[in-house]
Amino acid sequence: MKLISQNKYHQEHNTAFFSGSYNGTKDCIKNSDFVICDHNVYFLHKELIDNKDYFLLKGEEDKNFSVVEILCEEMMKSSLSRKSTVACIGGGSVLDTAGLACSMYHRGLKALFFPTTVLAVCDASIGGKNAVNLSNRKNMAGSWYFPEKIIFYPGFLKTLPAIQHMEGFIETIKHGLLENEDLLKNINAFLKQNYPGENDPVTINDSYLNILIQSALYKIKITSEDPFEKGNRLRLNAGHTIGHALETSAGLSHGRAVAIGLIIEHSILKELTGKDIFLPSNFFPESLFKDLALPDPYTILQHAISDKKNLNTCLRFSSPSYVSPDPILEASEDLVLRKIMEFQNDLPQWQRKHP
Ligand SMILES: NC(=O)c1ccc[n+]([C@@H]2O[C@H](COP(=O)([O-])OP(=O)(O)OC[C@H]3O[C@@H](n4cnc5c(N)ncnc54)[C@H](O)[C@@H]3O)[C@@H](O)[C@H]2O)c1
Repeated sequence: MKLISQNKYHQEHNTAFFSGSYNGTKDCIKNSDFVICDHNVYFLHKELIDNKDYFLLKGEEDKNFSVVEILCEEMMKSSLSRKSTVACIGGGSVLDTAGLACSMYHRGLKALFFPTTVLAVCDASIGGKNAVNLSNRKNMAGSWYFPEKIIFYPGFLKTLPAIQHMEGFIETIKHGLLENEDLLKNINAFLKQNYPGENDPVTINDSYLNILIQSALYKIKITSEDPFEKGNRLRLNAGHTIGHALETSAGLSHGRAVAIGLIIEHSILKELTGKDIFLPSNFFPESLFKDLALPDPYTILQHAISDKKNLNTCLRFSSPSYVSPDPILEASEDLVLRKIMEFQNDLPQWQRKHP
């Protein structure tokens, strides 16, 4: 096991991020008092997940309060105490649900997170946000709770479907675009060879793993400096205002929706600030836009508005620090509508191969 970073989040809350070897990961799981694991991951990596006390979750389908209650009951049946350790293994949906249960049972026991998707490695395992969905609204009830360790075992990624690599890589690109020149440079060099998810099988080489770790370290830095999202952490929501509207209005997957969200919001920020903001088109391969069927721009706008209206706010967009000292900028409905329309007009351009 190699320690990559050790960060203090809040008072006594520290999280260590490790790159895990096969044996180190296996030992940590074996020595835990209880295991909560994604069902696909369990059957694909059974030899590694060697513990008799375990409970399997079905990703997003199980991301709800009833399952949190079941998990707490299961932990009680296994006589876990506040000092017990729970290994949580899976993508973002399992870590969110398991993390919430771990924060509630005995008001918090020790959680070890083993992220198994690209998105979970670079994003969802980091920063202490845990939540479940309520009715049809995402992440509506949750807690701030920081795992003791995050252990990234790259071997998990070998069984990840190609599309999941692409979905997760979008968040990495977002981290690069926010203010991380070094990461951007490495992504650029890497994308000259291939795009994760475009070719099957995905090449999990050192440059790919370095990019994922660099991206994870960026999220660790931002979230440890602003654990409760009062300032710079808000910037991490870049691409997500339009992205969420596309997820609900067009049924797009999260990664694809955020990619398009980044493009449209980039154009909104450019007009709001008059700044020439960098957006490399080769970061958004044509496969992202293939067979894209979007509803009319008014419907997308309505979804963005109704989502925000429930929170009593107006249309808000996260910006990089080099664009604005304020992490959030507000835009009029007219401007947003015009930018959605412009994207739809430019779509044939995005669907062609970028140099
Ligand atoms: N807490 C946070 O800060 C945060 C941040 C971003 C996203 N999220 C949440 O993360 C969730 C999305 O997470 P995700 O993209 O990791 O997807 P996911 O957890 O839903 O997993 C996607 C699919 O991949 C499968 N899978 C996972 N690991 C695998 C592996 N190694 N091999 C084969 N199959 C594997 C799962 O069974 C599932 O079918 C959303 O619920 C989102 O709200 C949370």
